[in-house]
Amino acid sequence: MRLLAFSMSGSLLKNAGNGISVTASRKVSSWWGHVEMGPPDAILGVTEAFKRDQNPKKINLGVGAYRDDNGKPFVLPSVIKAEQQMRSKNLDKEYSPISGNPEFCQHSINLALGDGNEIVANGLNSTVQSISGTGALWIGMKFLEHFFPSSRDVYIPSPSWGNHAQIIKLAKLTPKSYRYYDPKTCGLDFQGALEDINKIPEKSVILLHACAHNPTGVDPKPEQWQELSHLIKKKNLFTFFDMAYQGFASGDVNRDAQAVRLFVKEGHKIALSQSYAKNMGLYGERVGAFSLINSGKEETARTLSQLKILIRPMYSNPPIHGARIVSEILGDPELKKEWLADVKLMADRIISVRTNLRDNLKKSGSIRDWSHITDQIGMFCFTGLKAPEVENLTKNFSVYLTKDGRISMAGVTSKNVEYLAHAIHEVTK
Ligand SMILES: Cc1ncc(COP(=O)(O)O)c(C=O)c1O
Repeated sequence: MRLLAFSMSGSLLKNAGNGISVTASRKVSSWWGHVEMGPPDAILGVTEAFKRDQNPKKINLGVGAYRDDNGKPFVLPSVIKAEQQMRSKNLDKEYSPISGNPEFCQHSINLALGDGNEIVANGLNSTVQSISGTGALWIGMKFLEHFFPSSRDVYIPSPSWGNHAQIIKLAKLTPKSYRYYDPKTCGLDFQGALEDINKIPEKSVILLHACAHNPTGVDPKPEQWQELSHLIKKKNLFTFFDMAYQGFASGDVNRDAQAVRLFVKEGHKIALSQSYAKNMGLYGERVGAFSLINSGKEETARTLSQLKILIRPMYSNPPIHGARIVSEILGDPELKKEWLADVKLMADRIISVRTNLRDNLKKSGSIRDWSHITDQIGMFCFTGLKAPEVENLTKNFSVYLTKDGRISMAGVTSKNVEYLAHAIHEVTK
């Protein structure tokens, strides 16, 4: 094989600009000698360290997946029932359409916008099935890369889910940020957000977490969403909603979708990513959806055609099983009711464990203000712990969390909350 690693005079270059090393026999000794070791994933690294720890009291607060009060993964009873119903149907294993299971797509957009919404009634949504929420974000960002007319910049909250900036960069767009979290109050920096959004150049893209903001657990209040909607409209920004936790935050799928529905009602033509990882516990099934809200039926047909053209070379068509589970649940009123109860059960446990942790901190003698633990919502709590406190917590108490002080409330149970509160108090007093 000829390589560009030879100079014009024909002499051999030992290590060309691209780092490929070649031997005198003109054979490549290694194709990947120039590839540097990458850093481990921050969250998976926490889990690895947790597994190695022998302390029987160890707690893993790194993983963003729901656990029951025994610290065990939870398969929703409604999901088990859906799979039983599916089994009795003797379904085939044929390929799905490029855009995914049509009933699934219909159920997904209705779950987001509410049954009987005008967008679906008027054919204004182009919705495709995706490889969970991450895949939906990826399809969306690739679509923006190809077709967004005016800007390469995507503004995300500071901080945001770590993968947002990576996905945006991989899609050859530029992640930029706006203020969101105030470390002084462990709450929303609403004034900072308004000021920064006001400075975003017109016709740029802004990404919003629809509910249960990750990593901070801090969401705007309804009146703040209203103000954000007005400002974003005034600035003529394009809104991309990431909704990875619908129902998981408050226990009510309608309440958690209120920001998305408000923006749509106010005429924003949004992009929307959805995930069923958390609210149906379908983490490993990788099932989600991406939607664009269009200005007319004909535009819907055009954008849908291009979404399919983007998807085809990526993975041809999405997996079938998870989408069938979702359709089985959302298409069966009785089963849907059971699922809504399952979602509420998960959300309620998270909400109650927040109160429990706050109470136990007080009991352990902490005089710090921990009200943000119960003010925040969803899977995560941004504790406000500083990096040295986190280090101390891990080293001396075997409590594992990311360096930014984020804890997954799902890892807290009625059995470990007292020990956790004691440990937090010891490192913060
Ligand atoms: C804010 C946010 N968006 C999207 C996702 C995507 O998750 P998944 O790809 O598992 O659906 C997550 C998962 O943690 C998240 O927190």
